[in-house]
This record gives sequence, structure tokens and C-alpha cells, in this order.
Amino acid sequence: MTINLVIVSGTVFGAAEEVAQHAAQLLAEAGLNVTYQARISYSELVALEPDALLFVTSTTGMGELPEDLQPLAAALRDQPPEWHGLLGAVIALGDACYGEDFCAGGEMIRELYEELGVVELQDMLRLDASESVTPESDAEPWLAEFAASLTE
Ligand SMILES: Cc1cc2nc3c(=O)[nH]c(=O)nc-3n(C[C@H](O)[C@H](O)[C@H](O)COP(=O)(O)O)c2cc1C
Repeated sequence: MTINLVIVSGTVFGAAEEVAQHAAQLLAEAGLNVTYQARISYSELVALEPDALLFVTSTTGMGELPEDLQPLAAALRDQPPEWHGLLGAVIALGDACYGEDFCAGGEMIRELYEELGVVELQDMLRLDASESVTPESDAEPWLAEFAASLTE
């Protein structure tokens, strides 16, 4: 059975969207059935009936989710879909200069997964903008591991 993976992104300046696009390409090449749509709505996402989820999100403000992801996160919290046992993972873009708010947006998605019963397949990837300006290629080893876990 081909795994139906849906990628969701949250971005302010576009970096998380670029990482999500790159991830979609690599994971499709690895044999997964991938859907990535920027700013996907709650009803569009639920209608896709995902087997697995990958959220790619940056953090803004003082540890907040980007505005383009907030309505979806709130809707998932208010109307939890039947996602118990679904497989999930998170890629968080942030900047370590923000101290304890580093990658807080990604942590919020992890909390949401827990509320929904989504099972994290591997540790959240933290991409630090103060360390590297190539988040897409930095994500590749982590994405290879994710693809292997989903296709084995
Ligand atoms: C106004 C502003 C606030 C930010 N706040 C945080 C933060 O609280 N925690 C964090 O880890 N990174 C923070 N960042 C860093 C961004 O998350 C990081 O640069 C990321 O790569 C941006 O990705 P994007 O282009 O997808 O928005 C902030 C950046 C800006 C410009």
C-alpha cells in the first residue's frame, strides 16, 4: 500500500515553504504519495485522509506560529479529526538567538499531535537560521530517515 503523506507548512518569509517543497520532491522520489499545498484549509486537509503528516513550520513573534498556520492549528484543536495512531513528524525552522522560544512553533505542533493522538515517528528536526542558510539541503538526511521509516 502506498502511504498517503500530506505536508503542511507555516511561514512568514518563505523559508519553511521552500523546505516543504523540497521535502515533497524528495519524499515523492522515495515512493510516497505526497500532497503539499501551501495554506491548506482544515476541510481540504481532512478530505485528503492522510496516513502520515509532516508539518514544516517556522516560529515568529516571541515563540508564535506563523499567521498562515494559526487558523488550521486552531481548527484541528477545535474539531479533532479521527487521527488516532496516524504517523507524524515535524520540521521546525527557528533561530537559536530566541533562547527558550527557539523553534517554539514546532513544539506547538508537537503538542497538537499529542492532543490528536498523532504518533511522532522521529525527533523533531530543528533548523537554526543563525547556524545555516541552507535549510533545504540541511533537512536531507532527516528526510531520508523519515522516508525509510514510512516505506519499510
Ligand atoms: C520577527 C521575528 C521573530 C522571530 N521569532 C522567533 C522565535 O520566537 N523563535 C525562533 O526560534 N525563531 C524566531 N524567528 C526566526 C525565524 O523562525 C527563522 O528565521 C526562520 O528561518 C524563518 O522562516 P520563514 O521564512 O519560513 O518564516 C523570528 C524571526 C523574525 C523575523
